[in-house]
Amino acid sequence: MIDISHAGTFKLGDRTVNRLGYGAMQLAGPGVMGPPKDRQATLAVLREAVASGVNHIDTSDFYGPHVTNQIIREALHPYPRELTIVTKIGALRGTDGSWNKAFSAEQLTQAVHDNLRNLGLDVLDVVNLRAMFDVHGPAEGSIEAPLQTLADLQRQGLVRHIGLSNVTSKQVAEARRIATIVCVQNQYNLAHRADDALIDELAATGTAYVPFFPLGGFSPLQSDELASVAAQLGATPMQVALAWLLQRSPNILLIPGTSSVGHLRENLAAASLRLPADALQTLNRIGATSR
Ligand SMILES: NC(=O)c1ccc[n+]([C@@H]2O[C@H](COP(=O)([O-])OP(=O)(O)OC[C@H]3O[C@@H](n4cnc5c(N)ncnc54)[C@H](OP(=O)(O)O)[C@@H]3O)[C@@H](O)[C@H]2O)c1
Repeated sequence: MIDISHAGTFKLGDRTVNRLGYGAMQLAGPGVMGPPKDRQATLAVLREAVASGVNHIDTSDFYGPHVTNQIIREALHPYPRELTIVTKIGALRGTDGSWNKAFSAEQLTQAVHDNLRNLGLDVLDVVNLRAMFDVHGPAEGSIEAPLQTLADLQRQGLVRHIGLSNVTSKQVAEARRIATIVCVQNQYNLAHRADDALIDELAATGTAYVPFFPLGGFSPLQSDELASVAAQLGATPMQVALAWLLQRSPNILLIPGTSSVGHLRENLAAASLRLPADALQTLNRIGATSR
């Protein structure tokens, strides 16, 4: 029996969510474009996640585009009261699948309305501004103007809470002068630990850190050390990778993605996996070079 409450909870704005959540990006078609191969299977994954206690789902209207949000709506609307859906704006997809910056006031406003319509909501729980100075990772540049637009949309009552994605520590500080920031979503996992200092900084202020690609993303994590720790503990490598994140810092919220109910169950069961000190030591060596 899977019990995700073992992983504990954390505050996301005025909501309390289980630390084990779900990332919906992989529900769209290949390359996060177009419809999925098996729509019924995607609906089943979402319904199983919520039935298992997941109350934090990460999405964006630029997944598909529109497709992922429409699947979430079909699977789960009317939404349970305890479900928090976090979306992100700041990018637009090209017809070739490219990810392009969309930071103008018109584009950001349109993106909020697209999310509201496709999710079937009157107000979005949390909206992350996704920085696009470099699509592949955080890069410096002012986010003041787009954040002012998002703060205006919040004042209009369309957005409850604001977060950031793909940002530097300096951008978090800049953003905090404009709005309350409830979460930061950057790439981070066992093998990619550039954000170690930022995670500690956010933990000190009670701000959630939500690592994207917690399992390695499009190329899932592979490492001999990870495989050997998993074998010793009778767990799978993906469960160990998630348990390591849970133990890394209490402000880390997980949103592993999967399009399979089997993988979903496996990932949620990581809530009950406790890594002993010697396993943590071995696992810490994997990402030591990326810091
Ligand atoms: N802010 C951003 O810029 C940004 C960027 C990327 C992603 N995100 C968010 O982060 C979430 C998580 O990222 P992600 O889904 O791309 O990457 P991920 O969670 O690191 O990994 C997902 C990949 O791992 C596979 N997988 C999942 N569970 C598995 C298991 N137990 N065993 C073996 N393989 C497994 C999935 O394939 P199967 O479908 O076959 O299980 C999928 O290919 C996304 O859903 C999205 O919401 C945000």
